[in-house]
Amino acid sequence: MNLAELNKVAVAMTTPGKGILAADESTGTIKKRFDGINVECTEDNRRDYREMLFRSTEGMKHIAGVILYDETIWQKAKDGTPLVDIIKRSGSLPGIKVDEGTKPLPNCPGEVITMGLDKLADRLPKYYEQGARFAKWRAVIDIGAGIPTYSAIHTNTHALARYAALCQAANIVPIVEPEVLMDGDHDIDRCFEVTQWALKTQFEELYHQRVALEGIVLKPNMAISGKKAAKRAGVEEVAEKTVKMLRNCVPGAVPGIAFLSGGQSDEEATAHLDAMNKLGPLPWSLTFSYGRALQHAPQKAWSGKSENVAAAQRVFSHRARMNGLASMGQWKQDLEKKAA
Ligand code: 13P
Repeated sequence: MNLAELNKVAVAMTTPGKGILAADESTGTIKKRFDGINVECTEDNRRDYREMLFRSTEGMKHIAGVILYDETIWQKAKDGTPLVDIIKRSGSLPGIKVDEGTKPLPNCPGEVITMGLDKLADRLPKYYEQGARFAKWRAVIDIGAGIPTYSAIHTNTHALARYAALCQAANIVPIVEPEVLMDGDHDIDRCFEVTQWALKTQFEELYHQRVALEGIVLKPNMAISGKKAAKRAGVEEVAEKTVKMLRNCVPGAVPGIAFLSGGQSDEEATAHLDAMNKLGPLPWSLTFSYGRALQHAPQKAWSGKSENVAAAQRVFSHRARMNGLASMGQWKQDLEKKAA
């Protein structure tokens, strides 16, 4: 492990003003997104869509790293240029999702465990050779009646720590993502408690696997009300509780934290990040690693039509710029209205 190199990459991935584009939807997930805009989920359409994002010169100015799905890291653009080269030329780092999705966790009804540790040690050097300098693994923790269980928290954070240690051994920065879902009707305080439990356990597991915290990026959920909650907490409360939770759980040795959007609206995800950065100075840089909150709008604008590419790139650039400003606490809502 070259810790100086890992640290340099982790710092670059979370540079204030920039964030991470999570474009690593599995084929099943991108199909769902394409169904929503009436686009057929073919290999060419997936390539064209992602090529459009990576070639967005203005948007990529605010993107420090792009998380790719296995198909994409090997794919070439229409003109034959490898997509990873387009990303690198934009000044951004290619990364790779290495988990293999979730399966039911035995003896724990309603809970899942993330798969993919077998053969991971053999896969990582191939991704490094292909240009990946960081990786992602997502664990999924659901909140409901009687869940999460100790088993789900322990098993998932242990797998994440095993993955992180394997990545660092291959000189790849692990994005550690223990996602507590916002799908239920729970309130913000329940999310706060469960996320705190998951993060405390996560850092203990990372310690036991001897993972160097200077060479990771944490990708957590925010402390936020469930989507179906009777009353949802406002921007200030989300920001204050999330920062409190992170201060309680995340050692200052971690260079950067990049949030997932998790089903928040585009503008909500931006406003929350901005409000947190306005509470600074903070021990780590706080930025975004959004999938849906960066891609909703450009997907709609594109709708699979080549004549819409320029318009979709403008929409993507706008969202990337807004989130870039939020990562410095410099976003203002009227900037959204001006663009509309
Ligand atoms: P969302 O921002 O859509 O939650 O996706 C981020 C991600 O990478 C989830 O693993």
